[in-house]
Amino acid sequence: MREATKRHYLMCRPTHFEVTYAINAWMNPDKPVDADLALAQWERVRDLYLGLGHEVSYIEPVEGLADMVFSANGATVVDDKVLIARFRHQERAPEADAYRAWFQDHGHTEVHVPVHVNEGEGDFAPAGRRILAGAGFRSEPGAHEELREFFGLPVVGLTLVDPLYYHLDTALCVLDDDLVMYYPAAFCEESRAVLRELYPDAILATREDAEAFGLNAVSDGRNVVLTETATHLMDELRSRGFVPHGVDMSELLKAGGAVKCITQEIRHR
Ligand code: ARG
Repeated sequence: MREATKRHYLMCRPTHFEVTYAINAWMNPDKPVDADLALAQWERVRDLYLGLGHEVSYIEPVEGLADMVFSANGATVVDDKVLIARFRHQERAPEADAYRAWFQDHGHTEVHVPVHVNEGEGDFAPAGRRILAGAGFRSEPGAHEELREFFGLPVVGLTLVDPLYYHLDTALCVLDDDLVMYYPAAFCEESRAVLRELYPDAILATREDAEAFGLNAVSDGRNVVLTETATHLMDELRSRGFVPHGVDMSELLKAGGAVKCITQEIRHR
């Protein structure tokens, strides 16, 4: 039987969410976003977390920062230490300072502003006492060394090769300390071999699962919140003792994000 542990998440209400530019292959500024529906979908995820007994903190959305709802990208927090993001694209660059201010205002004393581009948990996935780190589209390889040095934890670098899966969290999800689910085709051959070796029992996503953004999921060790269209993943999760909670993310998907992207985990000591 899988055991849930209580989590602490940081979320940002999609008050100013829209798609006005395209910095990934999913974004199309000509396709309208339903703002009310986006908010309802975001609230549904938040309510699920609260219902599961997790704590949720909120960062104030900033006008003009249309992607700030994707709070996973703002920082990586392990043992209460905060590595702030440095965004690849100008459109999102100012978010980094908003996240830095939030953590400093909320009592975090170990806050590092990085030299290299990293997009927080978009590319960095803490898994037990190691951190899986993606590169290829957003985070710079140099960020991996910065990550290792700051947290003092081993970092496993993984290279993404398909522009549809531009952040690690679109292609891989940590289910518990030593179990992940991922989409092999999103990674280079060498990274696939690394993943096979580290996680021989991993759940492998199909192309349909990946396209449905089913890997952009959040697990508390037992409950897994993910897009409801990733039906094969949901079956797999059930067969491994997890409890999947399917949600509709139609509006946030128009920006290339889903459940994990709107959820940053604050990992305490
Ligand atoms: N439009 C955003 C971007 O391209 C989406 C970010 C999704 N976040 C994530 N953690 N994958 O930056």
